[in-house]
Order: sequence, then structure tokens, then C-alpha cells
Amino acid sequence: MNASVDLAVPTGILADADIVTLQSHMLEEKRRVADPGDTLSWIISALSISAKIISAQLRRAGLDNVLGSLGNQNVQGEDQQKLDVIANNVLMRALGAREGVMVLASEEADEPVVIAGNRADERGYCVLFDPLDGSSNLDVCGGVGTIFSILRHDRRSTRIADSVLQPGARQVAAGYVLYGPSTVMVLTTGAGVDMFVLDTAIGAFIRIARGLRIPETGATYSLNEGNRASFPAGYRAYLDWAQANGYSSRYAGAMVADVHRTLLKGGVFLYPPTQKAPQGKLRLLYEASPMAMIIEQAGGQALAGTQRILDIQPTALHQRTPVLLGSSAEVAGVAEFLDRAD
Ligand code: AHG
Ligand code: MN
Ligand code: MN
Repeated sequence: MNASVDLAVPTGILADADIVTLQSHMLEEKRRVADPGDTLSWIISALSISAKIISAQLRRAGLDNVLGSLGNQNVQGEDQQKLDVIANNVLMRALGAREGVMVLASEEADEPVVIAGNRADERGYCVLFDPLDGSSNLDVCGGVGTIFSILRHDRRSTRIADSVLQPGARQVAAGYVLYGPSTVMVLTTGAGVDMFVLDTAIGAFIRIARGLRIPETGATYSLNEGNRASFPAGYRAYLDWAQANGYSSRYAGAMVADVHRTLLKGGVFLYPPTQKAPQGKLRLLYEASPMAMIIEQAGGQALAGTQRILDIQPTALHQRTPVLLGSSAEVAGVAEFLDRAD
């Protein structure tokens, strides 16, 4: 009797979708985004390899001597963690070697890094990043991430370095990597939001979702309530309303983790002005703007107070901004309290 051969297709990615890697995704995108010299694809590829290296480092953090602080402060006046510097160096090396990348700017570098050999009038890109977001979670194995923002080089800027000072609405692409139970990349190049998971068995980011949409509503707010006493009145009034209306509070203490949950589950993430940070704590160019592009591309809203974050004209690389982002209905609800209090 012939033994039946079990041809059942294995479960998982083989069973339910094409296998689209980040690389093949960018080839698809090429048909839509003019990318002379494939530089944008190469930048995404450099971000991908950086994310794999950083992820591998994080998975071994407690085993290799890479936890804890370096004992010095960065330009933000914050204790620099060893992994902040490691992640920064990986990104600077992976991105710095390619013509077409004009300027790199990092949370961990005082000034933008102008890549030598490029002329100011050349076409190219600026890449800005927060190499490791949520550093205070590192020693306790909490969620951390990398946030990135890609702009076309502004050939009119007098100094090449000033090319990074563009409103978030001019971003060509933006996204983040969340180093959680799995390593997830969320990316937009201006036509919706796509999500990839790092398959460590083959070392590739595999696309698992296309055209992510943030839920219209979500009864969850996310902010550091320890600062409540110093929030402006409108935020406190909103919190009173939310708590009286059965909202849940979720706060990971890492923007990438809190925004990712808000993107997938709905709700609202806020970092209001506080006594300690009257302009807000989060940095406009490499935290708020890229996250605002992701959230808007997914159908949500992202405000600084009641102003659209993507419309803010930056004046300094490390400038900070209040952040209010998430489901449109929820953001509008908070904005109403802010308007009333003004
Ligand atoms: P970073 O680790 O890059 O400095 O960012 C930390 C930020 C952000 O990730 C998070 O939303 C916020 O700091 C948390 O601030 P608090 O600890 O003041 O709540
Ligand atoms: Mn950060
Ligand atoms: Mn950081």
C-alpha cells in the first residue's frame, strides 16, 4: 500500500501570504517613490542591518558588559547609556558610507554630521535618528527602540548641516524599530504604514502587515502621570474626564513602545509640557516628527498642543515639543480640553 505523503503546507508565513522581505518591499516601492541611485532603498537597507545588529546586542545585554551608563551626559543633559553610544555608532557607520547621504543627525551627537565629499547643491538625503529610545528601560529589560526620519537634502540651505531643519511634513520616509519580544519595524514612505518582523532564523525582516490603520477610537491614555501636578490645566481636566469615563492607563516609559501600542490598539499618547520640561521632553526632529508621520499615515492625528506637529518649522536640531498623538477622535477629545483651558 502506498504510504500517503503528507504535503500539508507548513503553518506560519508560508501558509497565509507571499513572503515579502523589507528588501523586496523597497523594490515594490521604487515604482512609486522616485529614488535616483536607489539611495532611499540603500538607506532603508542600512537601517535594517543596524536594527539587526542593535537587536543582537540587546538580546545579549546582560551577558556582555554593555548595560549601565557611561558616567557622562549627552547634549540632552541626560546620562548616556553604553548602549546609546553603541547603537549610535552602528547607525553612523552603516549610514555614513554611502554617497547620496548628505547629513546624519542623532540624539546622541551635539551637531549634525555632514558627510564629506558631497557638494551642497547635490541631490541626496538627510537621515535623523534616535538610536536608542527608552534607554531608561535597558537595565530592566523593558521595551526600547530606534526612531528614524528621512528628508531630502535641501539644496537651498546655506550650510549643508541646516538642511535637517525642515518641517516634518517634508519627510520622505519615517519609522521605528521596536526591540520587544520580537523585533518589529514600522515604516512609511508616504503611502501608508507597513509592518515587518525580524525572522532571526533567516536574518530578514518579513512584511506581516500592509496599510496599517489606527483604530478611530480607543479608551486608553498613555502619559507619565507622575508629572500630573505640573501639567497645564487642560491636560489635567482631560485626565479627570478620562478617569471618570472608564479609560485605562498604559505607559511603557519608551515612546516607541507606547506609540506602537497606540497605533495597533488605538487611544492617545501624550507628553505634555511640565515644570521640568516647559517645551515638553520629546525631541521634535527625531522623535515627534517621525512618529507624527507614521500616525497620520495610519489615519490618526499628531499635535503639539493644538498645532499639527508636521507643520512646525524647526529652528534647532535638539528642540523639544509637547506631543499629543493617536486615534483622531481621542486626540480631538484632548484638544477640546486644551482649547477650553486656553
Ligand atoms: P530617550 O531614551 O531616547 O532619551 O527617550 C526617552 C523618552 C521617550 O522614550 C519616553 O516617551 C520618555 O522619554 C519617557 O519620559 P519619562 O521617563 O519622563 O516619562
Ligand atoms: Mn527617545
Ligand atoms: Mn535615545
